[in-house]
Amino acid sequence: MSDVSIYRADFPVLRETMNGRPLSYLDTASSAQKPSIVLESMRDIIEHYYANVHRGLYHFSQVSTRSFENVRGKVADFIGGQEREIVFTRNTTESINLVAQAYGRTFLKAEDEIILSEMEHHANIVPWQILRDQIGIVIKTIPVTDDGMLEVSALNHLLTDRTRFVSLTHISNALGTINPVKDIVTRVKSHRDDIMVLIDGSQAVVHARVDVADIGCDFYVFTGHKLYGPTGVGVLWGRYDVLESMPPYQGGGDMIDSVSFNRTTYKSAPYKFEAGTPAIIQVIGLGAAIDYLRVIGMEDVSAHEMKLYQYAMDGLSSVQGLTFHGSAPHKAAIISFNASWAHRSDIAMILDKSGVAVRTGHHCCMPLMSRLGVDGTVRVSIGLYTNTQDIDECIKGIKKAKDMLS
Ligand SMILES: Cc1ncc(COP(=O)(O)O)c(C=O)c1O
Repeated sequence: MSDVSIYRADFPVLRETMNGRPLSYLDTASSAQKPSIVLESMRDIIEHYYANVHRGLYHFSQVSTRSFENVRGKVADFIGGQEREIVFTRNTTESINLVAQAYGRTFLKAEDEIILSEMEHHANIVPWQILRDQIGIVIKTIPVTDDGMLEVSALNHLLTDRTRFVSLTHISNALGTINPVKDIVTRVKSHRDDIMVLIDGSQAVVHARVDVADIGCDFYVFTGHKLYGPTGVGVLWGRYDVLESMPPYQGGGDMIDSVSFNRTTYKSAPYKFEAGTPAIIQVIGLGAAIDYLRVIGMEDVSAHEMKLYQYAMDGLSSVQGLTFHGSAPHKAAIISFNASWAHRSDIAMILDKSGVAVRTGHHCCMPLMSRLGVDGTVRVSIGLYTNTQDIDECIKGIKKAKDMLS
């Protein structure tokens, strides 16, 4: 990766101040800042050729439709899938709800078992609990070790004749643990190859190159706003035959072939899952974000983030009284900790006054927090624009908090 200042210049918000201090944005795992190219791509369509997609015969609608549909190809290339396997949703949350309802409600029945893990984001827990309440499936969980890793050997007893679905995160948003998803898929499929596997890639597509074909899963989901794209757009990748076997999730315009009061027929996947006017502008913004990342190269993004992660760990380890949560050997650039000398919210408030944005709380992972015996953590997360000054400011702020609070 070239000098990080070149990339920082692409992100207008990084020139802003927060509480009168230069912004040190260390909350990228929650939502990433947006480069100018993403903003310009969205402004461009609005100013020059905006029209609804898939509907008009006029020139602007044709251009909008082409720009929108091109992104399907970009996303497919980015994760190693096929264009017809990319469904645009609102976010990861909607992608998982879509699978739980359209696949789960159709193909699972009472007493069928699904396996999640203790480190899932609520987005990969609650949709399955709703399904459990609707049809009586049984939810089992892969435990997490004290180091914040999946206890993969538990699959030996968790996988049974009744297992129908496994849904796991690729990278933990709270701890940064990178899960061995390819090995897990191999293990699950060798138990029975009709067990479906969904991987929540919300934190993974942003940190490294992902190849869904290599992983061997059936569904892969992620959200646009963490990938330096806009909010309001997410992706569900599904194996085409599986998507085709599923009924629509929502009904409305654009997802039908024909409608009468007696009978309605639907388009093929992916269109049958995209009812109503889609997030046209945001999808085009997501395409620009993917173009941007491809120019930099995910390998370079990853190398830069890991360098900064090591720099941050070296600095934070020098602060007395911090307990780090999650020490897996394979980790993304996410650091979670608590301090013996103050509550995390007080630390975050002092950091805020110093212009440093970090996340505190349960990170939408309440079951993981209870497994770790805490009710939340301070989380520092690193993105492609993070520099050593951001980390220095953060460590300085934490030391100041220690002086004031201990
Ligand atoms: C691992 C993981 N899964 C799911 C989500 C939910 O993403 P969204 O709120 O965009 O649907 C997040 C966001 O924090 C996440 O980190």
